[in-house]
Amino acid sequence: MFEVVRAYIAEAKSFQPSSKEELEQFRLRFISKKGLLGDLFSKLKDVAAEERKEFGLLVNELKQAAEGKILEFKDAFETESSIDFKGQDLTLPGEPLNTGSFHPLTLVRKEIISIFSRIGFNVSDGPEIEDDWHNFSALNFPPEHPARDMQDTFFIDLTPDQTIYNGSLALRTHTSSIQVRVMDKQKPPIRTICPGRVYRNEAISARAHCFFHQVEGFYIDEKVSFADLKQTLLYFAQEMFNADTKIRLRPSYFPFTEPSAEMDISCQICKGSGCNVCKYSGWVEILGCGMIDPAVLENGKIDPSTYSGFAFGMGIERIAMMKYAVNDLRIFSDNDVRFLRNFKGVL
Ligand code: PHE
Repeated sequence: MFEVVRAYIAEAKSFQPSSKEELEQFRLRFISKKGLLGDLFSKLKDVAAEERKEFGLLVNELKQAAEGKILEFKDAFETESSIDFKGQDLTLPGEPLNTGSFHPLTLVRKEIISIFSRIGFNVSDGPEIEDDWHNFSALNFPPEHPARDMQDTFFIDLTPDQTIYNGSLALRTHTSSIQVRVMDKQKPPIRTICPGRVYRNEAISARAHCFFHQVEGFYIDEKVSFADLKQTLLYFAQEMFNADTKIRLRPSYFPFTEPSAEMDISCQICKGSGCNVCKYSGWVEILGCGMIDPAVLENGKIDPSTYSGFAFGMGIERIAMMKYAVNDLRIFSDNDVRFLRNFKGVL
């Protein structure tokens, strides 16, 4: 009797069904009302009292082994066709998912990166807290330059044990600081753009904020000329806005470029006929640029007698204002969903 049950246990444990039918056969043989288990349990009362406990334990073991197998293979032979879809239209669309949207500044930043990557520019990064060397000195800012003034720059208090070049740390005032960091690590040819947040101690108004976003770009190689700069920026403007967009360069001054210029684009709002965004001039300034000053190349340990380069820096907010016809830059940091929900773009 005991031997028979042990043999059943071994059989149940080694059972490997290869079809649904086989599994059903197994279930009928062991578990169904008229199956082996029912039979064995009913024989329990005929077993001698001193052996009954052991016998009971064995039959229980068999029960668990058989039920375990059925559980294990329960879903193994289910096919889709065996599921009942009656009365359901499987071609109906699912519930819509609310996915949110990108911030307009993110969209514009991504688009700027994508435009420049098409002409061989990669992306570089740098810290928002900068020392004097990377934000000012290496970029040729003279010691008395007004940008170094507390009025324009947020300085950060140092702890007594911090020793920093020229004794000051500040929130970077422009992304040009990344130029210096890239030159420290890479040698020409360098062709990169550097998006990032910058900070200036300015009164907040429709046209200025104490923090905003810039994209710096620069290209250093042998024989890089002002013509390369101009063509690169024209390409950018026409890709960013439209093929009819015109650019104009006006002479300007930056300590780190020589010669320097500011670039205007034809006003996207009035198409040049005059409106209050372009102050009836037909032109809107979007960036500063120029040929990298040889002294700056030297500070980056790049030989200016072999290499030259151009650089430019633009405000992302300014571009976004033009692109989306927004006339107050404060709206970009208000986080008002009525504004943000207008931007569904995915890039
Ligand atoms: N850093 C300048 C600014 O913030 C922009 C600029 C970048 C100008 C590179 C020339 C070259 O205004």
